Amino acid sequence: MNLFVPIIVIGVLVLITVLLMITDQLIGGDDKRTVTINDEQVIDVTETDTLLNTLSKEHIYLPSACGGKATCGACKFRLIEGGPEEPLPTETPLLSPEEQANNVRLSCQTKVRSSMKIEVLRELLTAKEYRAKVEKIEDLTYDIKLVRLKLLEPDTMDFKPGQYAQIRVPGLEIERAYSIASNPKDKHHIEFIIRLVPGGKATTFVFKALENNDDIIITGPYGDFFLQEESDRPIICIAGGSGKAPIRSILSVLKDAGMPRKVYYFFGARTQEDLFMTDEFRALEEEFDNFKYIPALSHADDDHEWQGEKGLVTDVVMRYFDDLSNYEAYLCGSPGMIDACISCLGGANLHDEFIYFDKFS
Ligand SMILES: Cc1cc2nc3c(=O)[nH]c(=O)nc-3n(C[C@H](O)[C@H](O)[C@H](O)COP(=O)(O)OP(=O)(O)OC[C@H]3O[C@@H](n4cnc5c(N)ncnc54)[C@H](O)[C@@H]3O)c2cc1C
Ligand code: FES
Repeated sequence: MNLFVPIIVIGVLVLITVLLMITDQLIGGDDKRTVTINDEQVIDVTETDTLLNTLSKEHIYLPSACGGKATCGACKFRLIEGGPEEPLPTETPLLSPEEQANNVRLSCQTKVRSSMKIEVLRELLTAKEYRAKVEKIEDLTYDIKLVRLKLLEPDTMDFKPGQYAQIRVPGLEIERAYSIASNPKDKHHIEFIIRLVPGGKATTFVFKALENNDDIIITGPYGDFFLQEESDRPIICIAGGSGKAPIRSILSVLKDAGMPRKVYYFFGARTQEDLFMTDEFRALEEEFDNFKYIPALSHADDDHEWQGEKGLVTDVVMRYFDDLSNYEAYLCGSPGMIDACISCLGGANLHDEFIYFDKFS
């Protein structure tokens, strides 16, 4: 055998190894990476992962309502120094021109391949990880469940009425956002109202695997959708399906305050089968003249027993009001429903700045 063949093979292998090491250094193998947050906290990074996951490993939980799928835009931060020069095409649809000009990025799409300095809103740094025990799972309709958790470690959570938490799905290690449906004054418990999405990872877990006494991990609280407690404007709430969750929390706080503001709550559903917690909201109506609960069914044409409102919830709202200029609105549900509501409320003179919403996307 020619003596030069093994030498050439070894030489080529050494060359490839050196090239791979250089490439790794160039695209992210630098073991001495750091992430500096708000010029205050410096974390060391050894693995190349997304910024969202890198921070989470350090117990800094940025909101990630879509679980890192680049659809919610909740995980934004500002890149001050280092990091990728341009946002990815997956980021730009969720960044306004001003945000792009200010170097705002999505942490779920940004890989930590080199040291970087970042800025994160201070209020986002308060979210924590909680271990909780399932205390109750109750069927509210054929596809909606109430899940009640007792917080174990830490055993209390401070949240604002309307905010959400994220459930971590064991095994898949993905997180999904669920609005908190309970009263913030009970800091030891969290309730969620969860609708099954056929084939959905988190909801299939909740509907098929989650049982009483199970331990689960949640993070939170998150979100800038919450009751404006300083305001004295009359309120219009519009929700569909599991969108009832944050509105229930908001109403629990208004109830405790003696319902000081006029509140109209429109709940959009398809048929009577999709209604739930009706007794709870009817009782609130009995207790307070200031509160009106208006369920509206979009598919009730043949339902002769139904005496309530029929039609799309937006049409029903417009039957009640011509002018909403002094109102404040809280909207929750599918993106399509919310967009339709925003446009119809705007048509009734409700100013954008007084329309608060969470899209369950
Ligand atoms: C701020 C916020 C608060 C939320 N609060 C609640 C809540 O209180 N209760 C609740 O039930 N949900 C809520 N959601 C929605 C929730 O976070 C999940 O998106 C939803 O439960 C689906 O998760 P999944 O893992 O089961 O489905 P995935 O595995 O993520 O999705 C499976 C498929 O279903 C589609 N899909 C995802 N979500 C929906 C949907 N809502 N309707 C129809 N198709 C969908 C996806 O595009 C995908 O094709 C909230 C979302 C946000 C952003
Ligand atoms: S986590 Fe939803 S866009 Fe990043």
